[in-house]
Amino acid sequence: MTRIAFVNGAYRRHGEASVHIEDRGYQFGDGVYEVCEIRDGALIDETPHLARLERSLAALRIAAPMSLNALKLVMREIVRRNRVRDGLVYVQVSRGVAPRDHGFPAAARPSLVVSAKPLDRRKGEANAAVGVRVVALPDERWRRPEIKSLQLLPNVLAKQSAREKGAYEAWLVDDQGRITEGSSTNAWIVDAAGKLATRQADRAVLSGVTRATLLALLAKEGVVFEERPFTLEETYAAREAFLTSAGNGVMPVVAVNDRVIGDGRPGALTLALREKFHRFAEMSPV
Ligand code: PDD
Repeated sequence: MTRIAFVNGAYRRHGEASVHIEDRGYQFGDGVYEVCEIRDGALIDETPHLARLERSLAALRIAAPMSLNALKLVMREIVRRNRVRDGLVYVQVSRGVAPRDHGFPAAARPSLVVSAKPLDRRKGEANAAVGVRVVALPDERWRRPEIKSLQLLPNVLAKQSAREKGAYEAWLVDDQGRITEGSSTNAWIVDAAGKLATRQADRAVLSGVTRATLLALLAKEGVVFEERPFTLEETYAAREAFLTSAGNGVMPVVAVNDRVIGDGRPGALTLALREKFHRFAEMSPV
């Protein structure tokens, strides 16, 4: 089957889809993106993902490339044309094409790319059954990681470093020894007292959609949680740990660096939340 991507108004073969060499996304990382899960042929939490896209665009003063309703149609068309039932849809908006100059161009139309890829759900389930390992690395990102910008070099380097150490993810540590989040996921612990904690969604982390939905689920279920920073030491002493993102859902973490978390197996609360998450999240049929 031919993969299809949407690029600036046209559906193209994925292998031939391209943007201009002076696209500012390519030259400066001057753009934003979203990743939304597709599960059983439905978009998961589409509404908050698109709301965050609007916030990211506004933060960087990039015009919306089309109305939200039009974008929803394109996302659906891409999912359908690629026949993805389980996977991810990717939406990227850059400031557009202009002669290279750091300042904003006087007139540039934002570039829009939408693509979709399938994911093998069995792989996620296999990882979740045993849990994953993360390594702690310094958070070397810029000071606005709450904007979902294309500028991901520190995240790329952290993920690569984690993989070279045989780990699934890097948990980033701020100057005060506190974990902010993962290179592409939010970080959580069930602390030694049994209370769930994840960093507050301030300017130090991306306000994850999976994170927000999970917090709403916790509130509904009456599970006690705190939005607060936690240290690496606290993580070592935690009963359970997990990470969240579109595509990972709730993924148990069983080791941080070479320290085992809890009994080294996915935690009971973590697995219960993993199970409940998709029954609680918004599902929009394609
Ligand atoms: N990453 N933190 C960072 C730095 C992220 O890049 C992401 C998402 C998250 C989790 O956010 P959400 O729950 O909305 O997916 C947290 C996406 C999946 C990516 O870059 O591929």
